Amino acid sequence: MASSLLCSITIRSLLVLLLHLSSLSNYLAAKHNQHGYHRHRSHNHSPTSNQRLHQAYIALQAWRRVIYSDPNNFTTNWVGPDVCSYKGIYCATATDDPKIRVVAGIDLNFADIAGFLPNELGLLSDLALIHLNSNRLCGIIPQSLTNLSLLYELDVSNNRFVGPFPSVVLSLPMLTYLDLRYNEFEGPLPPQLFQKKIDAIFINNNRFTSAVPAFLGGTSASVVVIANNNFKGCLPPSIANLADTLEELLLINTSLTGCLPPEVGYLYKLRVLDVSHNKIVGPIPYSLSGLAHLEQLNLAHNLMTGIVPQGVCILPNLANFTFSYNFFCEEEGICMNLTSKGIKYDDRRNCLPEKPLQRSQKECNDTLEHPVDCFQECCIASEGGGAFGRATPFAPALVPAATPLLSPFLAPSFP
Ligand SMILES: *[C@@H]1O[C@H](CO)[C@@H](O)[C@H](O)[C@H]1NC(C)=O
Ligand SMILES: *[C@@H]1O[C@H](CO)[C@@H](O)[C@H](O)[C@H]1NC(C)=O
Ligand SMILES: *[C@@H]1O[C@H](CO)[C@@H](O)[C@H](O)[C@H]1NC(C)=O
Ligand SMILES: *[C@@H]1O[C@H](CO)[C@@H](O)[C@H](O)[C@H]1NC(C)=O
Ligand SMILES: *[C@@H]1O[C@H](CO)[C@@H](O)[C@H](O)[C@H]1NC(C)=O
Ligand SMILES: *[C@@H]1O[C@H](CO)[C@@H](O)[C@H](O)[C@H]1NC(C)=O
Repeated sequence: MASSLLCSITIRSLLVLLLHLSSLSNYLAAKHNQHGYHRHRSHNHSPTSNQRLHQAYIALQAWRRVIYSDPNNFTTNWVGPDVCSYKGIYCATATDDPKIRVVAGIDLNFADIAGFLPNELGLLSDLALIHLNSNRLCGIIPQSLTNLSLLYELDVSNNRFVGPFPSVVLSLPMLTYLDLRYNEFEGPLPPQLFQKKIDAIFINNNRFTSAVPAFLGGTSASVVVIANNNFKGCLPPSIANLADTLEELLLINTSLTGCLPPEVGYLYKLRVLDVSHNKIVGPIPYSLSGLAHLEQLNLAHNLMTGIVPQGVCILPNLANFTFSYNFFCEEEGICMNLTSKGIKYDDRRNCLPEKPLQRSQKECNDTLEHPVDCFQECCIASEGGGAFGRATPFAPALVPAATPLLSPFLAPSFP
């Protein structure tokens, strides 16, 4: 299920994080007993004892100056040089020097802070985590973040960031979890996004536009969510290049056209496939019957035609098959009675002769008079700016308040 995937990503990211930070005990102390942790820490090290904490001080003071509303008083104690005691700021032993402490994490989830991100944040070069979910931050993501060569998780979801895709994230070698959802980013997605070793890409609910890149490959993403953007074009056959990693593909409401390529059936790890609310035509590729792990299949609100194939209906893990609001005209075998297989389904508003709540005969005739030839359907995919995004699960453990997701992937995780 989606939530268990989130959980596994979260655990994976935590483990990698800990490897990077090599200071598990302090993190756990921070998590379970913030005060004790800080007291303990200040016994061992003077907070201003090193140049990197001093740079962090400069960066955080610069940030404080461009925060113009902080209704929950998150930054009220951001005074003085002891940055490790600042609310939402987490220190750890440096990865390259066990004798010094550095700022390794920022967690201001749900702080409702209004303001900007200043260039000085580039001084925080030891950061592994930035969690800024659900604030009112605006402006752009500064290019100076290219300095954050250890950054592992970047979550700026549910803010008011604008501008083109923040290409600075492409320069971050350790980035594993990228969450840009629920902002106002616009324009094309860089194809390089799908050539990075990012595990989870969440870019849904922005204003990205462009076709899905014709060539997808190189990414090791297990979750890709690009829903609710204004993409166009079709899903390219190169989607098959994601077969070894992709488990959840959500392309809801992204103006997809053309037929579903049979290569979708090569994504053998897929557990969730949701292409609903698009303009996809043609049949369900029979290859989908090879998706042995598929649990959720949503094809609703498209222009699909033909037969609902038995091979899909007998998939061993299928729990919910939604294909309403299409033009399917026949259900093969057991597909006629999914209830008998314990599969939740929705088959309304199709052209299924023996089922209730179908389209009118006229509507069905009009569509079926224009058969679709998927070999002729032109696949408009972009060579350059492409459209494929994904969101990451909210990373957790380090931070006191992990972000709960209302609905695992699309929800903006409002409190
Ligand atoms: C924040 O601090 C101000 C001034 O001290 C206080 O009036 C307000 O109630 C505080 N807000 C919260 C959410 O604690
Ligand atoms: C990048 O980090 C280094 C220290 O690691 C610092 O000296 C430099 O000023 C930073 N650059 C930016 C653009 O913040
Ligand atoms: C689809 O996305 C657009 C923005 O691109 C949004 O305005 C619209 O409400 C979405 N439709 C659905 C059904 O979610
Ligand atoms: C099945 O999936 C659809 C589409 O994702 C969803 O709206 C519906 O609530 C699900 N049904 C059940 C019973 O989980
Ligand atoms: C579907 O199958 C169930 C159990 O196998 C049976 O009770 C039910 O009558 C069938 N429904 C239809 C419409 O054939
Ligand atoms: C739809 O097509 C069928 C078969 O071609 C025909 O018998 C029927 O009259 C048509 N119905 C309408 C409403 O056009």
